[in-house]
Amino acid sequence: MKNKKTVRIALTKGRIEEGAIDIFESAGIDCSQLKNKGRKLIFHDEHYNIDFVLVKAPDVLTYVEHGVVDMGIVGKDTLLEQNKNFYEVLDLKFGCCRFAVAGPKNSNFYEGYNRKKIATKYPNVAREYFRKIGQDVEIIKIEGSVELTPILGLSDAIVDIVETGSTLKENGLEVYEDICSISARMVVNMASMKMKKDEIEEIIGKVHREVSLRDVLLASNA
Ligand code: PRP
Repeated sequence: MKNKKTVRIALTKGRIEEGAIDIFESAGIDCSQLKNKGRKLIFHDEHYNIDFVLVKAPDVLTYVEHGVVDMGIVGKDTLLEQNKNFYEVLDLKFGCCRFAVAGPKNSNFYEGYNRKKIATKYPNVAREYFRKIGQDVEIIKIEGSVELTPILGLSDAIVDIVETGSTLKENGLEVYEDICSISARMVVNMASMKMKKDEIEEIIGKVHREVSLRDVLLASNA
């Protein structure tokens, strides 16, 4: 039997990491080392010859595009924000949330002619949304806790991820407009897709079967 090539997969640290481990384990790919990892950042699965590396969301596509990892698991929010080259092969259907425009309750955001200030961790997504609706805005890039910016007067509104809605609610903000839905995605480096076709297709197939099975279970419980 021919030797399996090592496939290196970048997992987004944090919320997506947990969902990714869960789906890989259900698909029969052992991730036990990742569950007791301490501060270690790279792990090898002997059976499937997979290296898992843990990286921050904005770095996943950088590693994938440069081909130092073959695959990545990352949120659609990051894919939409970054203009990179990769194949998006699977919607993993976890980490579901949405992009929204939000701001202080009852503020009449869409009224008046003054150029509104929009704070966000996702300037490209925000710019594209306001371009589409034909509203000229000033985009202010923020690294986190964007909900603070309208409270402190830095912005009129934010473009951010809303999951449960509790961060908005607890800070006196509300959604003005939904932009789009988001979930975790599997991406593949373009050259790896050719060079490691068999190995990558095996992984995609296993995970795809698990995603489909979960869909069927969800539908039958609905
Ligand atoms: C994300 C997002 C919101 C919050 C939304 O932030 O930017 O702040 O989660 O979740 P909710 O609707 O369930 O309240 P994250 O936790 O990644 O922190 P950060 O904004 O400091 O990066």
